[in-house]
Order: sequence, then C-alpha cells, then structure tokens
Amino acid sequence: MKTIFSGIQPSGTLTIGNYLGAIQQFVQLQDDYQCYFCIVDEHAITVPQDRLKLRQNIRSLAALYLASGINPEDSTLFIQSEVPAHTQLGWMLQSISYIGELERMTQYKDKSTGKEGVSSGLLTYPSLMAADILLYNTNLVPVGEDQKQHLELTRNLAQRFNNRFNDIFTVPEVRIPKVGARIMSLQEPTKKMSKSDENEKGYISMLDEPKKIEKKIKSAVTDSEGIVRFDKENKPGVSNLLNIYSSCTGESIETLTAKYDGKGYGDFKQGVASAVIGVLKPIQEKYAALIDSDELDDILDAGAEKASFTANKTVAKAKKAMGLGRVIKKK
Ligand code: TYM
Repeated sequence: MKTIFSGIQPSGTLTIGNYLGAIQQFVQLQDDYQCYFCIVDEHAITVPQDRLKLRQNIRSLAALYLASGINPEDSTLFIQSEVPAHTQLGWMLQSISYIGELERMTQYKDKSTGKEGVSSGLLTYPSLMAADILLYNTNLVPVGEDQKQHLELTRNLAQRFNNRFNDIFTVPEVRIPKVGARIMSLQEPTKKMSKSDENEKGYISMLDEPKKIEKKIKSAVTDSEGIVRFDKENKPGVSNLLNIYSSCTGESIETLTAKYDGKGYGDFKQGVASAVIGVLKPIQEKYAALIDSDELDDILDAGAEKASFTANKTVAKAKKAMGLGRVIKKK
C-alpha cells in the first residue's frame, strides 16, 4: 500500500480553505493509502505565537481532523513535536539546503518582506517540511496549491541526499485537488484565504456559527455585473464563491451557474451559505463531543508512538548515510 503524509499548522482555527484544499481530500484518500496526518506545531513557532493559544489550537486541530472524518483506525494522527525524529532529520536536511533556494520560496518572501525580526526558522521551514514527508517513505502529499513550491524543494532535497550519500529516500509526488485548491479571501478575492488574516470577515472558520457564516458570505466582495458566472480575472469574488459552493456540494460550476441563471447575488449567496453550513454543521457537532474527551488524548498518544516507530528507523538510516554517530566496536 502506498503512503501519504500531510500536515497542517495549528496557527489559528482552520478555515474552509484548509478544509476544502486539504482535509476533504485526506478523508477521501485514507481508505486507499497508509496515511500519516500531522499537527505541525514546530512549524507554527517560526512566527511569534501566544503559548496558551498555541496549545489550545493544537488540541483543537486534532479534534477537527477527527470530526472531519479522519479515522484513527486507518490513519496515524499525531503531533510533530511529540516525534523528535522530525527535528533530527530536519537539521540534517537543513545542512544540505542552500540559502539561495530557501530564499526563493514565495511563502518565505510573503511572510518576511517588510517585517522586522524575521526568524531563521522561517527561512529553513521548508527543510523541516521535507523531513516531515521523507521520514515516512511517503509516495504522495495531498496539499493546496500554495504548498507546491515546498514540495518541489522536498523532491530536490530527497534526490540530493540520495545522490550525495545513500539512496534511502522515496521521492514523493504532490497531489492538488481539481477544485478547492486555492480558496480566496472573501474580502480581497485576489488573496488566499488564510487563518492568520487580521480581517475576520475575510475567512470562514470551521468553527464559525451558522449565523456568522451567513453574515460573512453576505458581505463577501463581488462586483456590480449581477450575473453569476465564472471568470477568475474579471470576477474574482463571484468565481471564488462558485468554487466554494462547488467544493462543498460536489456540483459542477456549470450546474451552479445554470441554477442561478437570471437570479441575483442575494439568492446565490444564500445558496453558498447553505452549502457551507451543510458541510460544517455536522463537523462542529462531532468536534464538540471530542474536544474535551480522553479519547482524543489516547488517539494522539497512539499516533505519536506509531509515527515514532517508522520515523526513528529512517533517522537511523539517514544518520548512518551522513556519517553521524560513532563507529560501534562492541560485539
Ligand atoms: P497550512 O497550515 O498553511 O495549510 C494546511 C493545508 O491547507 C491548505 N490551504 C488551502 N487550500 C486551499 N485554499 C486555501 N486558501 C488554503 N489555505 C491553506 C494548504 O495548502 C495545506 O495543504 N507548510 C504547510 C504545513 C506542512 C506540511 C508538511 C504540509 C508542514 N509540513 C508536510 C504537507 C506535508 C502549511 O503551512 O500548511
């Protein structure tokens, strides 16, 4: 069976973008692959975090994975910092990463340009991400479009390591969904929807109440044409809402535009809101039952143990390949 790895940062409550771009595909894939899903808390500390909030977000993200349908019987769900092999291999891969290639990452440029006190962790973040993936002999990495460049770097690092030391890493493929790969902000539809957006109206959190969801969608930026049609260039707002609608219901964009032919944006937005609420409400109910449960801790303990078993084996191989550790004389 082929292996999948993917991770999400616990840097705020997940948005409908994270759900449609990532978690929804994880749930679909878990029957056919051996899956590792990670809460990448060590990635989150590359930018300042409130420590109490971070710890809450970590637990909340675990509950959201499960509430969305990740089945711990099929998939291994765990917290990155509970498996030390991630930072161990991360350091080894950092040692073969070039500063130039890291500086070229658009996510690094976006997060660092014009900022003061940028941490070196923000720059070397993709080497740790490569370690996450390579530890598990991963074949496929399901992500949203924004992670494509990081995946290319992961492939380069795997190949570089294999050529330079020993052929131990599987070179992974990326998997990006056909719809939902890039959900945009509701307020600035040319910008990616992000859980760290300062303007709360720009994103729908997976834990927003139905009333709030309706309100946010009603105030989503559209245009003055008044016709529901897909045109990313000229109608980014409406096109984004169509994308969200289609990803939530599985109906094609053509079906949806035909459905709203001759109707205004008011009806359309009501439809989008119902579709989003239809997806999120059952998840929120399951989340409420899980968040304070012992079951959640048991799942995460078991996940860390299972992940460590495979990850430690890979680290041992990588250390040997690079010449780390001593020659053992004892028989
Ligand atoms: P993160 O935490 O920013 O996002 C988690 C996942 O959600 C996807 N995503 C989106 N998809 C569609 N529309 C959006 N607006 C949107 N926003 C986010 C992301 O593409 C991602 O799949 N570096 C990663 C975390 C990571 C990781 C890994 C991923 C660390 N190690 C190893 C895969 C494999 C990140 O910051 O994702």
